[in-house]
Amino acid sequence: MNLLIMGLPGAGKGTQAEMIVQNYGVKHVSTGDMFREAIKNETEMGKLAKGFIDKGELVPDDVTRGVVMERLSKEDIKKNGVLMDGYPRNIDQAIATDEMFAELGLNLDAVINIEVDPSILVDRISGRFICCTCGATYHKLNKLPKVEGVCDICGGHEFYQRDDDKPETVETRIKINEELSTPILEHYRKLGLVKDINGMGGIDDIKSSVKAVLDNL
Ligand code: AP5
Ligand code: MG
Ligand code: ZN
Repeated sequence: MNLLIMGLPGAGKGTQAEMIVQNYGVKHVSTGDMFREAIKNETEMGKLAKGFIDKGELVPDDVTRGVVMERLSKEDIKKNGVLMDGYPRNIDQAIATDEMFAELGLNLDAVINIEVDPSILVDRISGRFICCTCGATYHKLNKLPKVEGVCDICGGHEFYQRDDDKPETVETRIKINEELSTPILEHYRKLGLVKDINGMGGIDDIKSSVKAVLDNL
């Protein structure tokens, strides 16, 4: 199964991706996570990406395409399928996605579109904290670890907040993504691939909605 997951910053892409990966065994390919890893490791690409990410802007398409193609070319994707999170983010990246999938012989099964009212995004993002060891995502009100201060997934004790989650940067991210996502969704709607999910409920309700869609594919 090969999927895209779309939604505005803070809509819950990463949160739902964790469930999809656990239940369906697909590989999670998040361009945001890959950039943050490169920034942490201070690679050349990471240094370049940081300048854009810190402002809430998009990393240039050619850089991002290279990163995605390198990841999609790995054997595990062909074997397990993929869930793309955060790519494509504009219409050129959507066309690039279609080209890469065709080149690699991957068939796109569905585009999961998590719809939320933009007014809730700042609260979701400002409450987010992430496990330093495994990247699991939590929220200070909506999703606390079962044992305080201990990651449910890996038992890690250290957590961080993202550098690009400052209110000014979040505003830019939301604005850019609102504008650019419409043509992508139109493109995949024409192909009959878009599955709209109401993202306004609790995390578990949304998981059930996503699961119902995927079990029906
Ligand atoms: P990226 O990392 O993809 O960030 P984003 O799109 O802004 O989305 P987020 O990760 O912030 O939100 P999410 O939807 O995953 O929400 P989450 O599940 O964590 O990209 C970062 C940057 O990298 C970009 O700005 C850009 O600069 C660059 N970049 C990445 N891809 C690129 C590309 N293709 N091209 C160019 N540049 C690119 O949930 C948020 C919080 O809410 C969590 O705390 C969670 O616990 C909580 N929550 C989730 N669901 C619910 C719910 N239903 N109810 C209550 N709380 C919930
Ligand atoms: Mg995310
Ligand atoms: Zn962890």
